[in-house]
Amino acid sequence: MDYAATGQEAIARIVAATDLETLEALRVEFLGKQGSISGLLKTLGKLDPEARKVEGPKIQGLREEVSNALTARKDALESAALEARLAAETVDLSLPAPEAPRGSVHPIAQVMDELAEIFADMGFAVASGPEIEDDWHNFTALNMPESHPARAMHDTFYFPDRDEAGREMLLRTHTSPVQMRTMLAQGAPLRIIAPGRVYRSDSDATHTPMFHQVEGLVIDKDVHLGHLKWTLETFLKAFFEREDIVLRLRPSYFPFTEPSIEVDIGYTLINGKRVVGGDPSKGEGGWMEVLGSGMVNRRVVEFGGLDPEQWQGFAFGIGVDRLAMLKYGMDDLRAFFDGDHRWLNHYGFSALDVPTLSGGVGTPA
Ligand code: DAH
Repeated sequence: MDYAATGQEAIARIVAATDLETLEALRVEFLGKQGSISGLLKTLGKLDPEARKVEGPKIQGLREEVSNALTARKDALESAALEARLAAETVDLSLPAPEAPRGSVHPIAQVMDELAEIFADMGFAVASGPEIEDDWHNFTALNMPESHPARAMHDTFYFPDRDEAGREMLLRTHTSPVQMRTMLAQGAPLRIIAPGRVYRSDSDATHTPMFHQVEGLVIDKDVHLGHLKWTLETFLKAFFEREDIVLRLRPSYFPFTEPSIEVDIGYTLINGKRVVGGDPSKGEGGWMEVLGSGMVNRRVVEFGGLDPEQWQGFAFGIGVDRLAMLKYGMDDLRAFFDGDHRWLNHYGFSALDVPTLSGGVGTPA
């Protein structure tokens, strides 16, 4: 038998194979159990020892030659396939980048983070309470008994049913009930702010049925009005990032504070727009009311489970939405809650713009 010719023919077919399936078929044809070269090897058994010595190495040589050719062709086909895949899968860097993630941080959320950051620096913790309240926490314990006229001013949303204790249930009309809950839960001394949603049945360009307040409460020994004034001034300077903030404190009335004080902030008129800062008594501008505050009424300290002979404090309540409008220049409160993505794109903040005192709590550069 002409092994050389058999080998050449097999190798020619192997080299001509253009894909891995064809090559595998050839391997089976030559070297498989029923393969032609495997068949030749089987014939060795029938030969006498002398002939076997001559034929054996020839057939083994043929087998090895074909086996090497199969391996070499397989490697070649596999790397060609890989090359083709790499070529097909190249990234086209001239394509436009994928769209950036959408969405922004609402100015209210941003301002609340700013508040938490500024007050944390003054040693205040953040407290919270339920938006569905009972009238004891929302009114009675804040020195507004059932017949109190101040209750009528709150345009309260009541629930039809009372709770197990027989208390009327309502949507909290202010964040002040968190004062009561925190005193009862934590005792004194205390230094907290409580930002959150509040609800009143009221709606126009500057009022929405849901809005936001931040409550402040400090309970300690020997606390006086000077501490309140310093705290508010320090806060407002940090919040508006201006040193020239001028405050005007006016006597007022809240059932839960005695004395009660309303705080106005001075503004200047720039191109007809109100800009916070400057002293209105020295030029064009005026005063805007920004918050209510006062020394915590001793009745409220008692309701909070503390001895008013030992503990005093001050409290304040600020409209967060209004603060945001003053700082970032929106003029219609209703747009805050429309969910209009154009408004959110314009006034919203990047999730990466986290307010910090070192980096600035204000508008990004
Ligand atoms: N709770 C008041 C309101 O919603 C705001 C307020 C005034 C809160 C004086 C206070 C305060 O803590 O001392 O109108």
